[in-house]
Amino acid sequence: MKKKISFELSIYDAIDELPREYQKLLDSAVKSREKAYAPYSNFQVGAAVLLGNGEIILGNNQENASYPSGLCAERVAIFCAGANHPNEVVKAIAISANSKDYEMKIPAGPCGNCRQAMMEYEHRQKSPIAILMRGKKGPIYKCDAVVDLLPLTFNNSFLRDS
Ligand code: THU
Repeated sequence: MKKKISFELSIYDAIDELPREYQKLLDSAVKSREKAYAPYSNFQVGAAVLLGNGEIILGNNQENASYPSGLCAERVAIFCAGANHPNEVVKAIAISANSKDYEMKIPAGPCGNCRQAMMEYEHRQKSPIAILMRGKKGPIYKCDAVVDLLPLTFNNSFLRDS
C-alpha cells in the first residue's frame, strides 16, 4: 500500500489578513531579524515565539567565525523560551528571513535542525505550534503544526518501550 502524507499551508498576501496577535508576532520577528549577527552569510533571520501568557520571546541568528558554532534564529528563540518559561505553552513562532545582498520575496522554511528542535516542544506540550514565515516582502505562509513540516518525526516515544 501507499499512504499520502500532506498538510495544509495557508498563504496570505498581506499582513493585515492575519489575526492581530499574529501580525504583532510577525512584526516582532522582523524587528529581531534586523538585529541578527550574520557577518559571514549576510543572511539575517529573526524569530518570535508567542507564549500562552501572551509574551513574545525573540531570537535571531548568531553566527561565529567557527561556522558550525553559530545558531539559527528559531533555535535561539525557542531555547530562550524553554530556558526562561519552561511552564508556558508555545502557541506560535514567526520567522522572517532576508539577505543584506538581495531581497527575499518568498518565505524561507526553517532548516531541518530547527524543525527537530521545535518538534521537541510541540511533542512535550501535546499541542500544536503554528509556524508563520515571511521573506522581506511577499506572501506569508502559515502551517498549523511543526509536525506538518516534519512527518515521520523522531521523538522521545522511541526512546522507551511502549
Ligand atoms: N538560518 C537561520 O537562522 N534559520 C534557518 O532556518 C536557516 C538558516 C541562518 C543560519 C546562518 O546564520 C544563515 O541563516 C545562513 O544559513
